[in-house]
Amino acid sequence: MNRSKIAGIGYYVPERVVTNNDLIKVMDTTDEWIQERTGIRERRYGVKHEETTTTMAAAAARIACERAGIQPEEIDFIVFATLSPDYYFPGCGVLLQRELGITKQEVGAVDIRNQCSGFVYALSIADQFVKTGTYKNVLVVGSEMHSMGLDFSTRGRNVTVIFGDGAGAVILQPSDDPNRGILTTKLHSNGTYAEKLSFINPGAHGGYHKKHMEEEVDYGYPSPDTYGEIFITPKMIADGNYYPNMEGQFVFKMAVSKFPEVIHEALNELGLQASDIDMLIPHQANLRISQFVQKTLRLRDDQVWNNIQKYGNTTAASVPIALCEAWEAGKIKEGDLVCLAAFGSGFTWASALIRW
Ligand code: ACO
Repeated sequence: MNRSKIAGIGYYVPERVVTNNDLIKVMDTTDEWIQERTGIRERRYGVKHEETTTTMAAAAARIACERAGIQPEEIDFIVFATLSPDYYFPGCGVLLQRELGITKQEVGAVDIRNQCSGFVYALSIADQFVKTGTYKNVLVVGSEMHSMGLDFSTRGRNVTVIFGDGAGAVILQPSDDPNRGILTTKLHSNGTYAEKLSFINPGAHGGYHKKHMEEEVDYGYPSPDTYGEIFITPKMIADGNYYPNMEGQFVFKMAVSKFPEVIHEALNELGLQASDIDMLIPHQANLRISQFVQKTLRLRDDQVWNNIQKYGNTTAASVPIALCEAWEAGKIKEGDLVCLAAFGSGFTWASALIRW
């Protein structure tokens, strides 16, 4: 079986920089609090009503195509990871196809809803298609326009200060060198704690899962015989119950245990050690989480790429943005062992080992 390799990579972040001090103007927070707990100094926000998850993805994809030496028309499958899609449906995969002007080809497109681990899942799915010879140029994208869906009042401060907008993309192609490319991917999930990091409204749950929620919240559903007004009720809007929700400390504890676990799982399969990693690209969840993982794996600073300070947490986009930045900075060279790892809502977590 062939291996697949990353033939081209690109990223896009919006121009508008939003510093911690900018957030202080709208909510009760401080630069010190944000930097101390998360490492974040600033993040980017897209231009409202002009930029979307799809347009940012297209910008990143065009760069990836150019670097892979292909035209967008040559893409034969699209895998799109996001938790902030332009529409509830259809997904961003088809919107990206339209944005890139490649609808004539009518190639397949799929959306991946795995939040922070979305890109590594998407890469693994694309890898299966390329390895088996099904497709030759798969576009894999992670993109998020978080700024359109955050609570900018003090109530949302624990979540809102963390997230930023951006997109990253790669073109996956068959590798002509059997020793180069994606060596392995590991994917895991555990839905037990689904609500600990979630964005549940609007949704079709109708309150069904309330047994899994810490507090019982009255969403103002109409009587059980009534359909409609289930996705979003007037009461949800009045109460502001349509924002992401996170139990930060719980997420932190799970993340610092699952990141090393899934990295070791991939290394063990190949008989490698953590010290063999030339560059670890962790999902940029929180600088403290990345530092904890680095310490656990006993990696030097030059073996780990962090850019959350500049971009915040861009969820599905964070791994490809960081990978691209590290590569552009000359920190990833041919033959290097690159490890991607992510953990997030679901919970889902994943790793990938790539011989560059
Ligand atoms: N500014 C000022 N104060 C704040 C803010 C803020 N932005 N947010 C919360 N606080 C306050 C709280 O109200 C609380 O006040 P209280 O003690 O008076 O009640 C206090 O700070 C401590 O709140 P905690 O939530 O306990 O703070 P914690 O030290 O856990 O830090 C954080 C919160 C940064 C979210 C942390 O738990 C964390 O990093 N968790 C990991 C989750 C994560 O990284 N999520 C990213 C998205 S998920 C992913 O990508 C994996």
